[in-house]
Amino acid sequence: MTVPPQIVAPSILAADFARLADEVRAVEHAADWLHVDVMDNHFVPNLTIGLPVVQSLRAVTELPFDVHLMIEDPRRWAPGYADAGAYNVTFHAEACDDPVALAKDLRSAGAKAGLAVDRDTPIEPYLELLPSFDTLLIMTIKAGFGGQRFIPQLLDKVRTAREHVDSGHLELRIEVDGGIAADTIEQAAAAGADAFVAGTAVYGADDPAEAVRRLRALAERAAPGA
Ligand code: DX5
Ligand code: ZN
Repeated sequence: MTVPPQIVAPSILAADFARLADEVRAVEHAADWLHVDVMDNHFVPNLTIGLPVVQSLRAVTELPFDVHLMIEDPRRWAPGYADAGAYNVTFHAEACDDPVALAKDLRSAGAKAGLAVDRDTPIEPYLELLPSFDTLLIMTIKAGFGGQRFIPQLLDKVRTAREHVDSGHLELRIEVDGGIAADTIEQAAAAGADAFVAGTAVYGADDPAEAVRRLRALAERAAPGA
């Protein structure tokens, strides 16, 4: 499989949950990953979907699943998503006291391991853990709800992470999540992100597949060195 330089991951949080399989198929040939937001009404106030939905969706699409766990006690639940065939399983740094141990569990269950940092969490304490991870998800909003306004100041964390990843020659995706749309994706790409979650900007569009392609083109154009 060739690895695309810029990943676009539509978030099904903004899709019609009564027609999930159709909504996933609508981006099947345009998206790189499918972003699945799992919220437990404890780590964040919102409640979405869990393992049974991920298991059912796994059967209807070839897209790799990028599972974003906004839950408490990820050590208990995260490996189940790897077992269900998720490509990447991301859990929150704020919810886990031993992120490296959980990353190891996820990798041995056959998934990529992702570490997420929420709006108010500094990135610096986590930089030294990054060799254990495949994905670093930097929230560009406060985690919990779709459709929020992008916070450009949070791109400072992306810049810091990009510098660290490049200077350490780490193999790691830097993913941004929250308020990513045609008017914000270029600044995120220029800051050094190379994976982009988009909910409203994809599923709020008349043609979700075309919205994905448009976002990718903008990100590619704005990427450093492009
Ligand atoms: C929010 C979720 C996001 C959400 C993004 O906590 O993690 O993935 O779906 O939605 P938009 O793109 O609408 O900001
Ligand atoms: Zn998310």
